[in-house]
Amino acid sequence: MKNNVLTPGLADAMVRVTELAAIAAATEVGRGDEKKADAAAVDAMRSAFNAVDFRGRVVIGEGERDEAPMLYIGEEVGTGNGPEIDIALDPLEGTTLTAKAMSNALAVLAIAPRGGLLHAPDTYMDKVAVGPGYPEGIISLDVTPAENVTALAAHRGVPVTEMTVCVLDRPRHEDIIASLRGVGARIALITDGDIAGVIATTDPQTGIDFYVGSGGAPEGVLAAAALKCVGGQMYGRLIFRNDDEKKRAARVGITDFDRIYSLNELASGDTVFCATGVTNGSMLKGVLTKGGRVQTHTLVMTSADGMVRHVRSDRKA
Ligand code: FBP
Repeated sequence: MKNNVLTPGLADAMVRVTELAAIAAATEVGRGDEKKADAAAVDAMRSAFNAVDFRGRVVIGEGERDEAPMLYIGEEVGTGNGPEIDIALDPLEGTTLTAKAMSNALAVLAIAPRGGLLHAPDTYMDKVAVGPGYPEGIISLDVTPAENVTALAAHRGVPVTEMTVCVLDRPRHEDIIASLRGVGARIALITDGDIAGVIATTDPQTGIDFYVGSGGAPEGVLAAAALKCVGGQMYGRLIFRNDDEKKRAARVGITDFDRIYSLNELASGDTVFCATGVTNGSMLKGVLTKGGRVQTHTLVMTSADGMVRHVRSDRKA
């Protein structure tokens, strides 16, 4: 790994952090309580961070200090010895998926040397993303989703009818879906979990060619940190529904409310990205507890050397 701050040892430590968060969240799978599942993941993730030799600072977290008792934006974690690291985290991506025992819930984090991740507020973000292999700028938030997918199909030399676009299944996306179907694209609707939706564009096995739609801005930064490791393009623009959301953005240093952020602006530094499956999903298997042992599956990626590693761990339950 080129970067001497994000050492392989630190990447391994982060794997343990998402593993322990996922194991804790998994105790709440199917129990119908989203908050309890999230709290279990947050608690476990925080304890795991505090065993790591680094000076970690949460830049994307569970909310602002007054509304999040733990892992709030600005919270410092780690032993206080070691490198200065910024952290974007989502201890439980897919609280509803977990509560309802549905597929694709994950424990997720990304780290970068200090200043390497956009301090995004907890608002929505318009996102477009595509995997590697396309010319820079082929997708854009300034054109329609239909125009984006048409450009991608033309570059690949295939009809638009062979393109599949991943979109969060929300009423606010009705126009996007209609416009994409209007040009013949297939739509893969997901009920939750747009970090995995974005990452899916980088893996030909998923059949997903393009991601579009609005979702959480924190999830946007986490997805960008992942794409930075495997290549691809992503653009994000914050959405503000009211003045309070603009104030939240101002508090984390955002001054241009209309700015479109490229992948390298969402994640400007080298990154390590880790995700552990909580429930079974398209990207990762979920936590499996059997015979006094607990098994986890984690995806860990590092941008400095483009490493992608799948880690299967087995430990005492
Ligand atoms: P939670 O884990 O916080 O429930 O978020 C899941 C998620 O689907 C994200 O992946 C996505 O960015 C966001 O919610 C979309 O928000 P909304 O459900 O309000 O459309």
